[in-house]
Amino acid sequence: MKHELLFFERDAFYEYKEQQLADGYEIESISKYLLDAGNNDIFANFDHTTHIIDITALAVGFYKEVQMLGEQIFEKFTNEDTIFIADKKHEEALRYDLRHCFINFSNIEIEPHDHKQGDHNQPNSKSITSKYKKITDLTDDELDVFFQKFRETLYGHEKFKDNFEELVKNFRVFNKLGEHKILSLFLMGESGVGKTEVARTLHKCFGGEKKLAKVNFGNYSSEFSLSSLIGSARGYIGSEDGEIFIRIRDTDVGVILIDEFEKSNATLFNYFLDVLESGKIISSLAEEIDLDGFIIVFTSNISKENFTNKISPELRSRFDYKGLFTLLYNQDKRKFVEFRVKSIIKKYNTEFENKLNENLFEYFLSQINVAKYNNMRDLNKKIKRVFVDYISIEYPEVQTDNGSFLKIARKLLGKY
Ligand SMILES: Nc1ncnc2c1ncn2[C@@H]1O[C@H](COP(=O)(O)OP(=O)(O)OP(=O)(O)O)[C@@H](O)[C@H]1O
Ligand SMILES: [Mg+2]
Repeated sequence: MKHELLFFERDAFYEYKEQQLADGYEIESISKYLLDAGNNDIFANFDHTTHIIDITALAVGFYKEVQMLGEQIFEKFTNEDTIFIADKKHEEALRYDLRHCFINFSNIEIEPHDHKQGDHNQPNSKSITSKYKKITDLTDDELDVFFQKFRETLYGHEKFKDNFEELVKNFRVFNKLGEHKILSLFLMGESGVGKTEVARTLHKCFGGEKKLAKVNFGNYSSEFSLSSLIGSARGYIGSEDGEIFIRIRDTDVGVILIDEFEKSNATLFNYFLDVLESGKIISSLAEEIDLDGFIIVFTSNISKENFTNKISPELRSRFDYKGLFTLLYNQDKRKFVEFRVKSIIKKYNTEFENKLNENLFEYFLSQINVAKYNNMRDLNKKIKRVFVDYISIEYPEVQTDNGSFLKIARKLLGKY
């Protein structure tokens, strides 16, 4: 018999996981061992001082003979001090089925965080989602500043920016009334004109310190896509997460970017229909994240015709904004050149002695015919090339200095 089975509350699982990680433990699902139960090596290699086994997968309905399976599998973990945990949702069944496997059943006690003084006076209801900076939480003044920054950072697309501002203002009202949970934007159009940049800019304007929650649907075109996105099929891998949950959990901003949306399939489309409708994202293990107040940006290279063919009318009508991003005007491309050059110079000047003049962008503008470039990635490459040429002409001595010019170029280019 094993010593003890510990139950965790789903809501507290990630906190527990982090605490254990800090103590040097990784949590592993029992499914790997169930799938390969005849392989004695994996049991022999198991290290109970660095790993905890989550046995939830046993209980979620995938396996019928839980009692028998338990009796076979647990004796293979030979060390008595091995820690086993399970989702409390299955406590009743597991207590019964595994009554011959464990001596004790108890609950995991999570050590409380160091709360700031006065924290307990605050209402609880917001605590789950409040870790995200959201458009619905900004004051009117903050919103003005937000839009100003958004307009400055994303070049061109003036009509979109006007529409977006209007949309957000409506959204904030109806979200408060509980009638509009998620603001969804579906952006189509040419490559390299700023569709993905919209989400990055939103993230920047919120002052996100962690990464933007981004999922590329180009990676989810197979029939197994839903399970890798939202978590494993019932019971298959236990408590492992789908990518989207990991991304949302790891961000501090209420913005989600779904890139290349059209690359995925009908199952995923339906899943998102549900997400937009309910304002929640639910994993296959029934874990929920409340996305109330979130903005989801879907981007796609789909043509207008394919948009109607490929995306169902229900889903189409569910997007709050559907927009076609057109090519940028030359004046916007010039702004882009100015911004890029200034930021390259800034970085250059912090690293090297011979300081470059901030106004150098005028020289770049004289060297680059922006009309030739429609994709800003190509324009960016051109800027880099002109920059390298400029340095090698203006500072030829740097070039001969033991190849250090190459180092400079590589260093700077690597960053852009
Ligand atoms: N309107 C814009 N404002 C500011 N930067 C832009 C804009 N358009 C493009 N860029 C710059 O060009 C790069 C590429 O843009 P982005 O990733 O948004 O392209 P995209 O429209 O999503 O293209 P694709 O369909 O190929 O994914 C960005 O990293 C950004 O630096
Ligand atoms: Mg993109």
